[in-house]
Amino acid sequence: RIEAVRYRPVLDSRGNKTVEAEVTTDSGGFGRAAAPSGASTGEHEAVELPVEEAIAAGREHVAPRLEGREFAGDQRGVDSALHAADGTEDFSEIGANAAVATSMAAAKAAADVLGVNTYQHLGGAFRGRNFPTPLGNVLGGGAHAEDATAIQEFLVAPTGAPSVRQAVFANAAVHARVKEILEEDGVPAAKGDEGAWAPSVDDATAFDVVAEAADDVADEFGFDVQLGLDMAAAECYDGDEYAYGDDRRSTEEQIEYVAGLVAEYDLAYVEDPLDENDFEAFAELTDRVGDETLVCGDDLFVTNTERLQRGIDEGSANSILVKPNQIGTLSDAFDAIELATRNGYDAVVSHRSGETEDATIAHLAVATDAPFIKTGAVGGERTAKLNELIRIADEA
Ligand code: PGA
Ligand code: ZN
Repeated sequence: RIEAVRYRPVLDSRGNKTVEAEVTTDSGGFGRAAAPSGASTGEHEAVELPVEEAIAAGREHVAPRLEGREFAGDQRGVDSALHAADGTEDFSEIGANAAVATSMAAAKAAADVLGVNTYQHLGGAFRGRNFPTPLGNVLGGGAHAEDATAIQEFLVAPTGAPSVRQAVFANAAVHARVKEILEEDGVPAAKGDEGAWAPSVDDATAFDVVAEAADDVADEFGFDVQLGLDMAAAECYDGDEYAYGDDRRSTEEQIEYVAGLVAEYDLAYVEDPLDENDFEAFAELTDRVGDETLVCGDDLFVTNTERLQRGIDEGSANSILVKPNQIGTLSDAFDAIELATRNGYDAVVSHRSGETEDATIAHLAVATDAPFIKTGAVGGERTAKLNELIRIADEA
């Protein structure tokens, strides 16, 4: 049985306060988890409440429903209790931050009680053998850094890596090489919120730098290292035009532009290339480039099965970003992955720009056989997940 559910405010990687939850069981089980937080959040995400409000709601509405409850790793039961404690469609009463921290802490407590790793508990006996390819953010700007690139994230995708460890090391090597090339060019660069370099250069220059760095590392490591993007287009769309730096594009021009980038840079992955409400434009782009490239919906789908189902029906995208805090519980995130997988969509389990040391998403990715994970390239709150993947792979 669950003995206690406790909450406290802690810091995230931006230095903002976030919700940490702890779940203990009467058999001595313990789980602790903290909620991440986005900066370029989707309009349709579950609601993140101010931290003190979320904690008060957790103490008042969630803890009494869970404490004393028969448990035995019943994650769906815990997550149903979270929905019942909230009573809304979008967790606006207790906060998606309180919900997701509780959901993840309960999963870890259950794994602890069962004496297995979190990925084994979440995935079951037949899971945990396929490892996700990590997408590493090596250069960027947008909502994650001032005076940097217009495109939010330039990602590397080590699609040819023979192991998760080689993949993680390759991404870090590209990150380091990007800095060297910028230095050679006399371009200073600090880091953005996710640890990616954030130089004051235009997107065309950024493509050149990242492509060169990826080529160098591919040669050094001896496998393919492709590029990807998160264009976070909803942040740049004013209802009429897309504004990236000084460029203004209509929807048709944006589709044309992205299709051109896919061809020119052999992009493996393009996230949110169009506005979060434009399922039709997403479908048009997917039609054009979707055979070879993952067109991924982040703000488009917000890990929500209803929005994903609409995308499946309309042929919008062929991949979904999965952020547990966008939907509020692990069960809901799990359902989004299952629906995606059944319909041939690749799931990309993802961090947020504001993160903590919590590594639950690494376990979720392994547990669901997700083909990709996006959790940065360097920095402690990013390597918490990447190193966890390396450890899990060592064990499996
Ligand atoms: P966010 O950005 O966590 O700031 O929303 C990450 C992303 O857009 O993928
Ligand atoms: Zn995104």
